[in-house]
Amino acid sequence: MAKGLCRVIVGAQWGDEGKGKIVDVLAREADIIARYQGGANAGHTVVVGDEQFVLHQVPSGILHPGKFCLLGNGVVLDPTRFFEEVDELERRGIDATQRLKVSNRAHLLLSYHRVLDEAKEGRRSRGRIGTTGRGIGPAYEDKAARSGIRVADLWDEQRLGEMVRDNVEEKNRWLEVLGSSLRVRCEDVLAEVLGYRQRLLAMSGDVSRAIYAALSRGERVLLEGAQGSLLDLDHGTYPYVTSSSTTAGGAATGVGIGPRTLDEIIGVVKAYTTRVGNGPLPTELPDEMGERLREAGGEYGATTGRPRRCGWFDAVVVRFAARVNGLTELAVTKLDVLDGLPSLRICVGYRFRGDRASQSSGSGMVGGERLQEFPGSLSVLENCEPIYEQMEGWDTPTAGARRIGDLPAAARRYLERIEELVRCPIRRVSVGTKRDQMVVLEAAPSDSG
Ligand code: IMP
Ligand code: MG
Repeated sequence: MAKGLCRVIVGAQWGDEGKGKIVDVLAREADIIARYQGGANAGHTVVVGDEQFVLHQVPSGILHPGKFCLLGNGVVLDPTRFFEEVDELERRGIDATQRLKVSNRAHLLLSYHRVLDEAKEGRRSRGRIGTTGRGIGPAYEDKAARSGIRVADLWDEQRLGEMVRDNVEEKNRWLEVLGSSLRVRCEDVLAEVLGYRQRLLAMSGDVSRAIYAALSRGERVLLEGAQGSLLDLDHGTYPYVTSSSTTAGGAATGVGIGPRTLDEIIGVVKAYTTRVGNGPLPTELPDEMGERLREAGGEYGATTGRPRRCGWFDAVVVRFAARVNGLTELAVTKLDVLDGLPSLRICVGYRFRGDRASQSSGSGMVGGERLQEFPGSLSVLENCEPIYEQMEGWDTPTAGARRIGDLPAAARRYLERIEELVRCPIRRVSVGTKRDQMVVLEAAPSDSG
């Protein structure tokens, strides 16, 4: 059985928590870095020296010389974009091809998925989800509908041709039903697929076996999540979610390891909250404070450039994420963005507003009732208002802090309050975009052994 170390990094809010930087730092301590879900909807920004890299599909571990990177079966691979990214990395002097492998069981995301993503968004009766438009939903739909095309299907050219034809016919019927004038052509899709077929096959393999073998040799594996727990298909704010399992359980199925193989489950949270796309965000600040966080934090989507919605730290959300992931520790990012605020707020619970619309939703909730746990019903959540606790801010810049003692007392109190409310220890605090702008806390004696 495995004797190495297996860590997973998950987002504990709505994505964009700064996982890229935490992965980048922890990649130093890993031999293998693997993605387990999502696709080109993700956007990880990593700063190395004076250079900035924005990665969508390639694990950020690729920026570390000598480390191997894998894309698991749980990923939907958009080969066109994937190879653009690989080529860009090579152009910038990184030997990405040699150090990357894709699961032969990963599903392919083809151009028709992107076309369908747009067409479907335009037709949703209850409003747009605000997807990234990268075809992620339709690709996972095909996977669940058992009509998807996997990397391993590229081996058999004849079979591949039949699969493409069947899919194109079906997609065109759908586009017609959706009222779209767009159509896909079989020859175009085949040309696209045959264009990268050999190159992709040469990079494909059994990712589950590779991880198992590495752990058996005593190596260290880092599983890199994309998006966040509140965007998880099962646990997130459905239907305003992505189409994959972003939580720790998804890491196990997404690369093909047993759930007990996970040794450490690290939840990344921003020191405040952001969300890009539609759906509930209880602590959203549609005012000047929200604007201030957006500007100070550079809160614009790495994939779509959309302004991110910003709000105060929501402890109800993160405590929920700690539970559904089984988090063993937290990493807090962007603490420096809060520098200079006279006071801060933390959401410690919700109060149910209980207006007429929600009374008729049959939720069984009474107006004014207090919720401690994140609700499953969207109607309830949409009628919740945050209960805040006010905390003192700090003036001293935190960007230079490397030890907990370097942080202003008020910042330490803020972090301690987060630990208490979330019931999970903080082990890392990021105070800037650079690799070394990180405070690492000692493990408490009680959780060291
Ligand atoms: P999709 O993943 O493109 O289908 O988009 C579904 C929802 O997830 C939308 O609200 C997107 O904005 C959101 N989303 C998808 N990927 C990311 C990400 O990497 N960061 C933050 N939000 C994301
Ligand atoms: Mg992102």
